[in-house]
Formats: sequence, structure tokens, C-alpha cells
Amino acid sequence: MVKFKEKIIITSALPYANGPLHIGHLVEYIQTDIFVRFLRLIDKDIVYCCADDTHGTPIGIKAKELGIKPEQLIARFFKEHQEDFKNFHIKFDSYYTTNSRENKHFSDLIFEKIKKKGLIYKKEIEVTYCENCKRTLPDRYVKGKCPKCNAPDQYGDVCEVCNATYKTVDLIDSYCTICKNKPVRKKSEHYFFKLSALSGFLEKWIKKNKNLQQETKNFVLNWIKQGLEDWNISRDGPYFGFKIPNEENKYYYVWLDAPIGYISSLANYLNNDTKKAEKAWNNSKIIHFIGKDITYFHFLFWPAMLHAADFKLPEDIVVHGFLTVNNEKMSKSRGTFFTAKDFLKKYDAEHLRYYYANVLSKKLADIDLNLNEFKERINNELVGNLGNFCYRITSFVNKNFNGEIKNIDNNKTIINEINNRINKIKDYYNDLNFNAAVNGILQISDIGNKYFQKNEPWALIKKDKKKVQEICALCVNIAKNLNILIQPVLPKFSEELQKQLNLKELKWKDIGFELKNHKIGKEKLLVRKIEESKEELFPLNLKVAKIAEVKDHPNADKLYVIQINLGTEKRQLVAGLKDFYNKEELKNKKIIVVTNLKRAKLRNVESQGMLLAAEDNKGNVGLLTTKSEPGDEVKFGNLKNSNKEISFDNFKKLKITAKNKKVYFNDLELKTDKDTVSYGNIKDGKVC
Ligand code: 2FM
Ligand code: ZN
Repeated sequence: MVKFKEKIIITSALPYANGPLHIGHLVEYIQTDIFVRFLRLIDKDIVYCCADDTHGTPIGIKAKELGIKPEQLIARFFKEHQEDFKNFHIKFDSYYTTNSRENKHFSDLIFEKIKKKGLIYKKEIEVTYCENCKRTLPDRYVKGKCPKCNAPDQYGDVCEVCNATYKTVDLIDSYCTICKNKPVRKKSEHYFFKLSALSGFLEKWIKKNKNLQQETKNFVLNWIKQGLEDWNISRDGPYFGFKIPNEENKYYYVWLDAPIGYISSLANYLNNDTKKAEKAWNNSKIIHFIGKDITYFHFLFWPAMLHAADFKLPEDIVVHGFLTVNNEKMSKSRGTFFTAKDFLKKYDAEHLRYYYANVLSKKLADIDLNLNEFKERINNELVGNLGNFCYRITSFVNKNFNGEIKNIDNNKTIINEINNRINKIKDYYNDLNFNAAVNGILQISDIGNKYFQKNEPWALIKKDKKKVQEICALCVNIAKNLNILIQPVLPKFSEELQKQLNLKELKWKDIGFELKNHKIGKEKLLVRKIEESKEELFPLNLKVAKIAEVKDHPNADKLYVIQINLGTEKRQLVAGLKDFYNKEELKNKKIIVVTNLKRAKLRNVESQGMLLAAEDNKGNVGLLTTKSEPGDEVKFGNLKNSNKEISFDNFKKLKITAKNKKVYFNDLELKTDKDTVSYGNIKDGKVC
């Protein structure tokens, strides 16, 4: 019965089932998975649970837009999310869905229990309703002018321009974002959870919990101090969710049944036995991993619900910060928004796991994926240090000793140095200090590399073959230990290396220097470098040029001959701009020039490049211009410009578009380091 006593239940936040996973989501899943793998490695009894978060207005609305049932929509993402997790080696013991029988059971159970305690009451409130869509509109589905600063197109709760907060009714010229009609205010009765009554309990629980991060505690205690408001836990239909018992058209708010999904996922693990799951939950240590944006839900609503319904509260809630890429919010136009799938087109899953491990600790701080540093770290540390040491040893032993090691060089200095580090690494993993763990591991492989190098086995082998074999045996032991140490971060790398070392199912307890009289398997490269050539090149070389002089073409009515300054060089262009600009207008304009176009003679005058302009479907032309300086590079997102010459025919095949005063190639915006590129007052169109 109490078999579950020592079990640890670990969860990651449940991703919404209405969109793909991206590398921002992966921070948390990789963080949790590393921890879980470490606990498995030290033989802890753990269950890693997660699920898709399937309910709520956005899912209902998106399904409607796509003309499918919400069940179909969530089924799609259920499959897609699981593929992504698998590809990134995130291994759940249970991955379930909140739209399940078990989740309905636990939602009803918890709701009833809380109600019986007198902690749920009904109250009439005003909601915003669209008579055309026939639905209540959450704040995010109402827009209008900000009542304070008049900024257009602001959401129903907060103005993104002046930060004012207000009610949807206060918006000027409000409209439903689905159908654009003006919504009305309506009265509706709702269920409220008396969070305020539990604020004393919550305060105590947070204060006395020693595991919680101090920064987060401070935040939450401050919220409590300011006074907690009761929580509306119901929504009017149509709503994709669980209907509240004995109600016609009311559903649980998605944030009520979402965290309950943790318990249902556990039930899924226990052969869908809800009784067993309830018991297991209450007899285990529970640790949640979440992002800082959902702190309020997990530190206030969730523990209050659990407490009121007599369920066990979590031991710890680990909160991580947001992901930035190159120190900015991920952005499609900068080419720094990667879905999980996109990322794998360019890099390996373990590249990301390694990098994230390197920047993760039990801190709230945001973490940055710097793409240059990313490449450096993978190539120098993962491949150049760790991968290199293991490969070097296995290939050397195979080449010189037919894969066999016998006795080990009993070098106490090296062994002690390594053992010291191993003990620390265990603590680092335990404390979620993955950055320090990885550093320790790199130090060990560095010790190994230096030891091997210093002994010059390739030379020594001619004099003392036996000694060299002993040196190799020590190195094989180091590689075996590295294999165990890095397993939580790099499961695939470790699996492959184990095969090469001809070892199986290594656990933490197998760490040591006892391996001898052993034959290893064949070596293979363990991890690949990030190659320069893997980076995407854009076939044009675009630069800013300033127009110095404009003359009429001697042999053509519509053409100008233009002298330009490219910062470090001057060139001449021939361009058909006479119908659109006079000479004075052109002079001193800073334009965008293709500098690697094959040179051509146009009516006997040489053109040494081409300027770019946008053209709308009426044939109006607007030159691309910028405030940047002559010679500055102009790029689409992060794409590198090519230096290879390009023919005019190949140039014509490129689809560059002009939209909303900006210029794009595949969603990537054209920019210099200092400024964007624009194209005057014509309509949207193409660039040529
Ligand atoms: O913020 C989110 O993405 C939510 N789907 C997280 C839910 S976590 C848990 F409470 F279910
Ligand atoms: Zn509407």
C-alpha cells in the first residue's frame, strides 16, 4: 500500500494544445529532464508526469477558425508535442491530456471538496459579451482605443502603449476581435474560490518551505501582503472544458483543471486507477518545474486548492526565467524564433541540451541563447574537449591494443583529482546547478586530455608498450566515468559511448576506476561540430550606398547613370528610374545595392550592381532606403550575405516582398545593424 512512500513525482508545466513547442518551452523540459535523469541515475524512485493543457477559449476559437472540432485540434498537437519531446530526448513516465476521464474525476472531486468546506460561493458579475458570436469574451478577445492615451488596437485589460489597466467596458470603440462587432456588457453568475480566506495558510506555507527560491518567495509574500482577491473559477459556454456538475452552461475555468492534470497524469501512469493515484500523490514528494509567468497560479491558487481539498502540497516549485536569443526576445524577423522542429533542421538536440545545461542553475534569472557562444561552446567544449577525449582514447586503444585494456596505471594524483570533482558534481546536480556540473565534467575531461598528451603514448609505445596500455586503461576508466556523469545532459551521446566502451546500463554507482581486463568496441564520432557552412547564406550581397551623382543615359530615354559611394569604393549603376524620380530627388539618397550581381552593359554603359526598389501592382516604384551609412551591410534576419557572383536570372527567382513599409524574405526582415529599410509611400508589393 505505502509502496509509494519514497517516490518522487516530478512535473513540468503543461503546454497548451494549440501551438507548436519552441526553444523557449524547451528550457523547462530540458531542465526537468536533466534533473529526472540524474535522479534515475542515482536510483531514486521517480515518476515524471506531464500532459497537454487542452481547455480554454483560445483552443475553442482556433478549432472553430480551422473548421474542426476542438478534440481534433488537441489530438494534432498531442501527437506533435510528443514527437518534439522524443526528438529532444525528454523522457516522461507519463504524458497525458487534461481532456481525460481522470482529469474530469479529479476536477469534480476537488471542486466538491472545496465547496463542502464553504470555500466556494456564487456571485453575479458583469462580463463582456458578443451578441454576434454569441459568446462571452475574455479580455484578450476585446480590443479598442485606450481610454487613457487613445492608442488604437489595445487589449481589453491593459494598454501596451501607456500601461494603463482598465475594464473592457472602458475601451473606446471596443470591438470583438473575432467578428469586429461591438460587444455588450451582461450580467452572469459565477463560482468564486475564497482565496482570501486562505491567505494566512499560504503565507505560513511559503515562509516555512526551505526549498523554494528566495526571490520567488519575496514576490509571492508581497502579493499576499497586498491582499488576495477571490478567484473566479467558472466560465460561460460555449467553452471547451469540463462542465460544472448541475449547471447548464458553466464550465471550470481552464486554470482550475490544468494543474489537476498533474494528478491525472499520475493516474495515467498507474493504469488509470484514480484511487491509487490519489494515494500515491499524498504519499510522495512532489516537485513542480514552471516558468516565472505562471508563478501566481502555482504558488497561490494551486496550493490553496490542494490544501482545501486535503491533497498533499508540493515539496518544491522550481521557477526558471524566460529565454532570450542574442539578448533579445525571440523574433521571427530577426531569424531567432525557432520551433522545436525548425531548430533540428540546423542543429542537433544535444547541442541545445548541452548549451542549456551550461546556462541553467536554480536561479530566476532569464537565460540567453547567444548563437555565437552556442557555436563556440559546442565546437570547443562539447566536441573539442569532451568528445575529443573519448574518441581519442577509444581509437588509440583499438589501433594499438586491439581494443583491450589490462591493468590500470594507478596514478593517485589523477584519480584523487577526479574523485574530488565527482563528489561535487553530484551535489551540483542535486541542487539543480547544472552549469557547475557541466564545468566540473569538462575539467575532468581536460585532466584526461592533458594526462594522455603529457605521456606521449604514441612515442612511449616504442619503448614501453605495457605502460602505455596501463595509461590507456586509466583513460578508459575516465571515459567511463565521464559517460556516467554526462548522462543526464547528453543521453544519446552516453548511449553511444557506452556501446563503444562495450559497457551496459551504467549507473552512478558504477563510477570508479575498477575497470580492467576489458575489451572495448569500435570507435565512432560521438557528436558533430556546428559547421560554418551549415549556417544559411543569402545569395545576395547587400550594402548601403549613397547616391553621389545622377546623369541621363546617353542612349536610353528611361535610364539614369548613377554614381554611388559604397563607403570604401565607388561604383556606377544604370537604373530605370526616370519615370519615378527626378535627379535632384535621387541625389544623396541612401539606397540598398546588390553588389555581387554579374556586371552588365545596358545600352553600352556598364552597370556595376543594382539598386533595389519596391513595386506595387499598379507599377508605382519606391526605392529602398535607410538611415544607415554607406558601406553598411544589409541583411535579412541573421542570414549571412553571400560573396559569390549571382546572375540576373537567379536574382529574379528570389521572392522579396514589401509589406507594411518593411522588406522581407521568408518572414525575415531586411535591416542593417543600425536601422530598418523602408520604401516610401507606395502600396505593398514585390522588390526588384
Ligand atoms: O502557461 C501555460 O502554458 C499553461 N498551459 C501551463 C499550465 S501548467 C499547469 F498548471 F497545468
Ligand atoms: Zn464577435
